[in-house]
Amino acid sequence: MNEQVYCDYAATAPLRPEVQAALAEAGRLEGNPSSIHWAGQTAKVHLERARSSVAAALGVEPREIIFTSGGTEANNTVFAGLLQPGDHVVTSAIEHPCVQRPLERLAKWGVTFSTVAPDATGAVQAGDLEQALRPETRLISLMAVNNETGVINDLAAAGEMAAQHNILFHTDAVQALGKIPLNAAQLGLHFLAASAHKIGGPKGMGLLLARSGTPFMPLLAGGSQENSHRGGTENLAGIIGFAKALELALAEQEELHKRQAAIRKTFLATLDRNRVHYRLNGAGAYPGIINIQLPGIGGQAMVMNMDAEGFAISYGSSCASGTAEPSHVLLAMGLTEQAAAESIRFSFGYGSSEAQAEGAAAAVSRVVARMGQPAAEPAVS
Ligand SMILES: Cc1ncc(COP(=O)(O)O)c(C=O)c1O
Repeated sequence: MNEQVYCDYAATAPLRPEVQAALAEAGRLEGNPSSIHWAGQTAKVHLERARSSVAAALGVEPREIIFTSGGTEANNTVFAGLLQPGDHVVTSAIEHPCVQRPLERLAKWGVTFSTVAPDATGAVQAGDLEQALRPETRLISLMAVNNETGVINDLAAAGEMAAQHNILFHTDAVQALGKIPLNAAQLGLHFLAASAHKIGGPKGMGLLLARSGTPFMPLLAGGSQENSHRGGTENLAGIIGFAKALELALAEQEELHKRQAAIRKTFLATLDRNRVHYRLNGAGAYPGIINIQLPGIGGQAMVMNMDAEGFAISYGSSCASGTAEPSHVLLAMGLTEQAAAESIRFSFGYGSSEAQAEGAAAAVSRVVARMGQPAAEPAVS
């Protein structure tokens, strides 16, 4: 059997061993953080320690962190809890479905939204968002790093523009947390959604950062947990595991960025050396996410063939996998349906190596040779 190599960190990252240990230890805390007895108060100390550590990483106060079941819940909370009939939202065409679908649902109840296309590099420009503003615009929602292409949006520019117009600013930072610097206050953010499992934390764990002074209703109405912003007994072990994963991700952020850049270079150089005809989708991307089109080769067939070679990669985003739909992100960037259907994503993370990237690119070369790629078109000068 082929060696198994995981190249799908943007779908989810394997649990870090240190997080696994922290989860096991946290599982022994017997109390409910809302209880006033010793067991509850011990649990509460651990809960608030995790909250403070996550808040410090994002440059905000601990009371501004609301732990959730993931990025999906955090994004849903913002839209459902904030928007009223008559409000308008400016968002982008490259957002994750957990931003797009809630807005579509709210549109049935009188909320309107405008969807701004990215430029050809895949990034969404603050000036284009500004063009879509209306007098009733209440919120701008722009993701930090795209999950399919790795393209990084200029949040600082968008935040500055939002502040000039006195409009609330939200970002889906699920693919950015722990990977690029994120200071909510400096970026002018009112809301930020993040997830633990993209950085080696537990799955089903996330957070919503909500700056104080921006009132919103809880999505999950219930008890007064999470400063009355989310009812339900906290997932204490998950929260402790999340804080641990973030601490580890931040400690290695710079080093990992450099390693990812080397991995990307090796991966693309190997494709070049083997004369594979490919196009890179998205410029200026976070180096750990590599999205390529292989002209003449179906993306889904490629994923299955790479799986047989032992490499776990993806076609479009993991949330859309299982569907044959070409990626809405790539279509929004101007790719044809065919080009989008011929695109695949490799994503690397804390456990990846240059040797693995070289192996993955060599496997692409083998599969492409087997499947028979049409000759490359001459380069346009
Ligand atoms: C950009 C982006 N937003 C949101 C999500 C959803 O996060 P979660 O899986 O924690 O609900 C994902 C994960 O696939 C993502 O990549």
